Amino acid sequence: MDYKSVIAKNIANLTELDQEQIFKLIEIPPQKDLGDYAFPCFILAKSLHKAPNMISESLAGEASLTENGMFEVKNAGPYLNFYIDRSRYASDTITKINTAGDKFGQASDGEGQNVIIEFSSPNIAKPFHVGHAFTTILGNSLSRIYDRLGYNVIRMNHLGDYGTQFGKLITAYRLWGDEEALSKDPITELLRIYVKFHEEAKKDPSLDDTARENFKKLEDGSPEEVALWQRFRDLSLVVFNKLYDRMGVSFDNYNGESFYSDRIPAVVDMLKEKNLLEESEGAQVVMLDEYNLPPCIILKSDGTTIYASRDLAAVLYRKDTYNFNKNIYVVGTPQALHFKQVFSVLKKAGYDFADDCVHVGFGLVKFKDMVFSTREGNIVLLEDLLDAAVAKTREVIAENAKLRGQDMSEEEISEIAEKVGIGAVIYTYVKAGREKDIVFSWEEMLNFNGNSAPYLMYTYARIRSIMRKAEAAGVKPSTDLDTLGTLTSDDAYGVISALSSFENDVKKAASIYEPFVISRSLFETASAFNSFYNNCRILGDDVDVKDSEARLALCEAVGNVIKSGLYLLGIETVERM
Ligand code: ARG
Repeated sequence: MDYKSVIAKNIANLTELDQEQIFKLIEIPPQKDLGDYAFPCFILAKSLHKAPNMISESLAGEASLTENGMFEVKNAGPYLNFYIDRSRYASDTITKINTAGDKFGQASDGEGQNVIIEFSSPNIAKPFHVGHAFTTILGNSLSRIYDRLGYNVIRMNHLGDYGTQFGKLITAYRLWGDEEALSKDPITELLRIYVKFHEEAKKDPSLDDTARENFKKLEDGSPEEVALWQRFRDLSLVVFNKLYDRMGVSFDNYNGESFYSDRIPAVVDMLKEKNLLEESEGAQVVMLDEYNLPPCIILKSDGTTIYASRDLAAVLYRKDTYNFNKNIYVVGTPQALHFKQVFSVLKKAGYDFADDCVHVGFGLVKFKDMVFSTREGNIVLLEDLLDAAVAKTREVIAENAKLRGQDMSEEEISEIAEKVGIGAVIYTYVKAGREKDIVFSWEEMLNFNGNSAPYLMYTYARIRSIMRKAEAAGVKPSTDLDTLGTLTSDDAYGVISALSSFENDVKKAASIYEPFVISRSLFETASAFNSFYNNCRILGDDVDVKDSEARLALCEAVGNVIKSGLYLLGIETVERM
């Protein structure tokens, strides 16, 4: 637990307030002589019928607030000031981190709890664009975060593999499909014939009838149509899986919308039985007036099912199969109403696990100084963005290597560029709150001195290089508490307080579904470390060995936290760059 939380917990034990409330009120005093943390007592005045000054005076005498001597506690007017024992702070924090290693942040909060995280969920036969990357990256990061906190995570890819468009694709493929193009670049070919279908159908409406017939055959399980659909699905997955591999993303389950289609009649029966289905303009709907929502359509007037009914079937299946404690949907904010409706129908039907279902939305993706030759209309493909980022990164890495006189083979440069380039893209998605739109700009993404993946990865690589040098010189990071306790300078203290919030930040990120809490934490740690590094020599003939050992241990701790945190964001580290 970080020290602010310890203070909050101890004050909570002595007052009526709860820990969270206190945590929010704790301040960092503007001047050093007022302590490292301060708690303003005003809030207690009303309930205790005492002046804040008197409250702080009496609280200052409570031994439990010192946490066994970790803090000195003094009152100053209405404030209760806490002075950290920096020696112990340093030795405790560094020991805890380096014992855990690069999995620091691991916890058992989620033991025995199943969490479904649905993410990515692209549509078959459609290009994988930069918007799909948002759900993919967010979902992957949340999966890793929940996993590290001890939850049993089930990663689900709810593929869009169902709907009348497959009738169109089958029809188009039979008329204009190019076998060779399909094997070479399946999605481009499928998109080409899909677009052509729409053009041709304008001239010849009978094509739409054929498409409807083909879709009907597909639904009825006619072997030829099913085989084509299966082929489109398999080929699309090959393309998607290449992207997933490249980004280190994996799934436990690829049940798409089609999987749930034959479970819909049971949903309809259940809703009928509970008297929830009503007719409205020929369609069957569930009214949701009491939730202030428009009706949820379950069956269209022609009796065909829709998106919402498939999601209802899916959530019931998920509950049966995984008995989830939480069921998270990482899907763009424009679908917020859809999920509200689905969850409300569940609630109305008496399924209380509706409250364990969460829609995690996110904003739009925009571009500032990038131009793509778009293969697919005006959407930007993730693959093109990754390729461009890797190519740009490669230039920067090669240039830096030349400037620093590092000898790096072309091959090594390419390997590093792949990781850093992809890291830079991923980081852009998780660097700010997810509801905000993101704007890609090369300048920010590849700024080795700013809030970017290359900056964090470079800080990590720099630490690894220090560790290698130390090892060669026979100097080891200290594990001795007294030695670590010498790290009390303002610079070291800055690093240690940034490090100490990491564990809590991981939990916070999970609880509000915001990986950016972790990216922010890493950026603060790296910034504090870089000023420590600039002001403080780590190795050298004129540095005392004990000092070197203590500083190395601090480096090691920062390396562990950066590696752990970047992993949780979905980003790899490199040993050198
Ligand atoms: N395939 C959909 C799309 O690309 C997203 C699916 C979202 N998940 C769900 N359970 N409805 O827009």
